[in-house]
Amino acid sequence: MKIPDIIIAVDGYSSTGKSSLAKKIARKFDFLYLDSGALYRGVTLFAQEEMLISRLGTVSPALQEALGRLELHFDAEGRLCMGARCIEQQIRSMEVSAQVSPVAAVPYVRAWVDEKLHEFGRRGRIVMDGRDIGTAVFPNAELKIFMTASEQVRAQRRYDELVAKGETPLLEEVVKNLRERDYIDSHRETAPLRQAADAFVLDNSDMTFEEELAWVQGLIQGKFGIQ
Ligand code: DC
Repeated sequence: MKIPDIIIAVDGYSSTGKSSLAKKIARKFDFLYLDSGALYRGVTLFAQEEMLISRLGTVSPALQEALGRLELHFDAEGRLCMGARCIEQQIRSMEVSAQVSPVAAVPYVRAWVDEKLHEFGRRGRIVMDGRDIGTAVFPNAELKIFMTASEQVRAQRRYDELVAKGETPLLEEVVKNLRERDYIDSHRETAPLRQAADAFVLDNSDMTFEEELAWVQGLIQGKFGIQ
């Protein structure tokens, strides 16, 4: 199945499996996959290392100027790098997860990330996942998917992911982090997480990955009249 050079936006709540689905779509249809959350995580790690964020998540105004010397890019395997250093593993830690939402709520951080996303998006034929791709970054994306799932299912997925990476999280901590992130992401002033009016909703609480894929494939076939 060959689809045109479109932009596919996959938005939704934390730990709904956006990146797994977006990566699979990219492989299947030969699209470039871009993880916008990774950039917010990269900025958060940078702020932490530069001591520009307090323990309570208060971001120092000095971050704005400091961003001028931050260089983030994806390598050929899609891993995030800060200059010559691969930071893919570090940006997925609980420490970064705990502070990424307040950082992502800062308007100049969003403007910095958006500029990068638009640069990447210029080539078309991309699938990008995040919170505001279909509403703010690429409001004209030809296909928008909004993902959701029950809190219990999402927390368990996130917990399993962290354990698989060798971390030892408490399930209550994971639930707390999910709730906090959802709240901050949906209530911030700039580009809050919300469903675009023209997005197709995918609630995968009770779906297998194969069922999700079949759903997406059906959607693409229907929307673009491809058999
Ligand atoms: O998708 P993720 O969990 O890696 O995203 C990390 C955080 O980045 C998330 O809590 C909110 C923020 N984010 C955002 O505000 N806008 C995006 N397009 C992507 C992520």
